[in-house]
Amino acid sequence: MAIQRIASKWEKTIILKQREMIRPYIPDTRKYDFEHLKEMVGIYGLVYVKPDHGTYGNGVMSIEPWKDDFDPESPIQYKLRFGIQSELYPTLEELHATLSSRIGKKIFLIQKGIHLLTYRRRKFDIRALVQKTPKKTWETTGFIGRIAAQQKIITNYHGGGSIAPIEELLGPHLEPKEFAKIYKEMKSLGIHVAAQLARRFPNLKEIGLDIAIDEQHQIWILEVNTLPALFPFKSLENKDIYKKIHRYAVSYGRFKK
Ligand SMILES: Nc1ncnc2c1ncn2[C@@H]1O[C@H](COP(=O)(O)OP(=O)(O)O)[C@@H](O)[C@H]1O
Ligand SMILES: [Mg+2]
Repeated sequence: MAIQRIASKWEKTIILKQREMIRPYIPDTRKYDFEHLKEMVGIYGLVYVKPDHGTYGNGVMSIEPWKDDFDPESPIQYKLRFGIQSELYPTLEELHATLSSRIGKKIFLIQKGIHLLTYRRRKFDIRALVQKTPKKTWETTGFIGRIAAQQKIITNYHGGGSIAPIEELLGPHLEPKEFAKIYKEMKSLGIHVAAQLARRFPNLKEIGLDIAIDEQHQIWILEVNTLPALFPFKSLENKDIYKKIHRYAVSYGRFKK
């Protein structure tokens, strides 16, 4: 039977929020419309807007209030960022008018923006891979750090991002003890997320969690991918990690032997 894939971020968010222990890790996420934009910018300042069926960081934008520091008298404006571009709008209404003409009839989501930790002034987040083991249990088999290209708001490899071991990226931010705690938390979260999605989609075999760690060192699930890339894990120094990832993938039929 084919490996289960789920495209809609909205659908996955709803399923995940049904599980009490996962809910605190999901940033406030709603379907995009002007009311939600106004409310969420008011609450969170930074928000992200993204296509419900997006991949590779395509169409991902951020919005935040912006003030000219050199002119304290000037009114607040709103900054829309995408790719390496940014646009300023005097009001949210005007920003929304432009945005909705670009969005058209497609479904977009709006999500609380997480202030990602940085590495050499670039934002980074973490991809966790969770796989069905040959014993039919779930296991978090690998982590890889993903660093945004300069000036970019997305960390995706296909959006110019680069990869690095999470130890290297988190090292400057966390004491070894805190690193160990967060590592454990991410591993167990991965298993819970896979198990929860599998209740609804029993043929799920693998997922990739995009995990953000904010400045307070809280961890957040930005999205869950059902067709995770496996090749980035090949670059890890510890070759046993990819060996196991490959072995599990062969056992559930993603790869031929
Ligand atoms: N709420 C958010 N806060 C901070 N960064 C985000 C948020 N949502 C997305 N991003 C950034 O954009 C990237 C792509 O968004 P994601 O939701 O993973 O969509 P895609 O399916 O296109 O990968 C993330 O890896 C992250 O770097
Ligand atoms: Mg992603």
